Amino acid sequence: MTDQDIAKRRAAEAALEFVPEGEVIGVGTGSTANHFIDCLAGIRERIRGAVASSVATATRLKAAGIDLYELNDAGTLPLYVDGADEATEHRQLIKGGGGALTREKIIAAASRQFVCIADESKLVRRLGAFPLPVEVIPMARSYVAREIIALGGKPAYRKDFITDNGNAIVDVHGLDIVEPIKLEQALNNIVGVVTCGLFAARGADVLLLGGAGGVKRIG
Ligand code: A5P
Repeated sequence: MTDQDIAKRRAAEAALEFVPEGEVIGVGTGSTANHFIDCLAGIRERIRGAVASSVATATRLKAAGIDLYELNDAGTLPLYVDGADEATEHRQLIKGGGGALTREKIIAAASRQFVCIADESKLVRRLGAFPLPVEVIPMARSYVAREIIALGGKPAYRKDFITDNGNAIVDVHGLDIVEPIKLEQALNNIVGVVTCGLFAARGADVLLLGGAGGVKRIG
């Protein structure tokens, strides 16, 4: 394991203490979330099951022997655990590097507590160096790109990629995000946008950052 992987693993392990007994929890997508699934496998008899934020996560959860639930059947979840591409001290995030942002955002919205796990390199003073993913209805791609340019961003179509919902991803470069909630709302208001990867209005409740010295908790 690389140092970064060890840091991700530490954050994932630290999230286990938030897992409530006998409940269905939400599980995110990506390499850090995968560490969490591996940790969860060790305590699988203590939970009822999980709602997956992507097909990839569902496959991994199933392989770990964890029962899968549909969000519509599970109701409000006590906990959602997921990674991030960037995070601030205010626990606002950029997510969607893996393209699972819409389902991630839905599960985060439907959960009482969102614990974000990441290695400490993900902590930034201001969001935007990581290109902001935006999920778009395919026929609106070009229109949405023009609207994004009008907002000051540089859109790049993610080639050869289709989301689990059958949509396209536009990655927005060149943003220095001073007002994350405002930009999140502006992007979500563009017709044809399904979701943007800014998790600002509903950020994480707790941020666990793994590093060489252990895990730092924010929130
Ligand atoms: C998936 O779509 C993303 O939101 C991930 O949560 C994010 O990209 C973090 O991934 P890693 O844990 O692999 O860095």
